[in-house]
Amino acid sequence: MIQKPEQQEPKHDDKTTSRARTLDLRPKRFDEYIGQEQVVTTLRIAVEAAKQRGDVLDHILFYGPPGLGKTTLAHIIAHEMDVPLVHTSGPALEKGGDLISILTHLGNGSVLFIDEIHRLPKIVEEFLYSAMEDFAVDIIFDKGMNARSYRAKIEPFTLVGATTRAGLLSPPLRERFGIQRSLDFYTPEQLMNVIKRSALLLEVAIEDAAAVEIARRSRGTPRIANQLLRRVRDYAQVCANGVITHQVSVEALALEGIDALGLNHLDIRFLSTIIDNYKGGPVGIEAVAATLQEETDTLIDMVEPFLLKAGLVIRTSSGRRATELAYNHLKKPGYRKTTQQLSIPSTS
Ligand SMILES: Nc1ncnc2c1ncn2[C@@H]1O[C@H](COP(=O)(O)OP(=O)(O)OP(=O)(O)O)[C@@H](O)[C@H]1O
Ligand SMILES: [Mg+2]
Repeated sequence: MIQKPEQQEPKHDDKTTSRARTLDLRPKRFDEYIGQEQVVTTLRIAVEAAKQRGDVLDHILFYGPPGLGKTTLAHIIAHEMDVPLVHTSGPALEKGGDLISILTHLGNGSVLFIDEIHRLPKIVEEFLYSAMEDFAVDIIFDKGMNARSYRAKIEPFTLVGATTRAGLLSPPLRERFGIQRSLDFYTPEQLMNVIKRSALLLEVAIEDAAAVEIARRSRGTPRIANQLLRRVRDYAQVCANGVITHQVSVEALALEGIDALGLNHLDIRFLSTIIDNYKGGPVGIEAVAATLQEETDTLIDMVEPFLLKAGLVIRTSSGRRATELAYNHLKKPGYRKTTQQLSIPSTS
């Protein structure tokens, strides 16, 4: 279903075309949020129940690869609960005092959104335990012999945490989230709806076949779908008559260096390195990162999840392996089946 924009902004004259460029494509309400149906149903029920009881919403943790809509959901929750949202991130909270200052200024029922919560320093994280459980913070005065602790009450609030690496969260923190949900990659059909909705907001005409083409190449990720749509829109504006036809989308995506599966330069370098330098693997991620001169975290967070999902790479106990699909896709010869695969008896 394609949603109409909630509120049309006033028309500007021709000089203020920055409106479309800076336009926020984030859905604002559950009704506008595409996909992740089970997660949305859980949240709708939790929000409705909390509102009926006049209670604060339970703490919520979202995890999953970048660009799947974790931040968007946090904003929707605050919007649907009709409460303010305070946005911060793990690395931004360096000292306990940074967090305490935010917590003591939160209004009743507010949403505190902590992005990249796995990067919260341990010393800060410990203040969250009592804040989440008892709505209180323990402030320590002085040091050593004179150290005194004072427990200050804070207003009840909802912590929404987002992380690309749930595994890096400490168990005590994780257990304090009443609702924990992972976001999954989107299907091409869902991404097509994201693209059509965004095209409507950007006021650009798009053929269904072009939306399908962009969706197929968006690596299951709405953020990438919106980025590609903007690039294709630019191409249509400058090199065609402004309408995104199928032909226009194919030409523009080729210029972006996005291949038929949606793989970008880094994805292809990642796969080629495993195949060319490490005979298809198994190889440790650190070795691949060193060869590519990229951060290991970048590969784990941004590159690998989709390649695993697409079946181009598998993780084994001894490292990453490129699959037959990867060899075929990159037209590389020399795929070797593992001894395990060779010894599987035929069922036919
Ligand atoms: N379900 C959805 N429907 C429509 N658009 C969406 C949806 N989810 C995300 N988007 C779009 O994708 C963009 C990225 O989403 P968002 O910033 O919420 O991702 P994220 O999971 O927080 O990513 P990161 O981990 O990198 O912070 C948003 O600006 C929004 O426009
Ligand atoms: Mg985010």
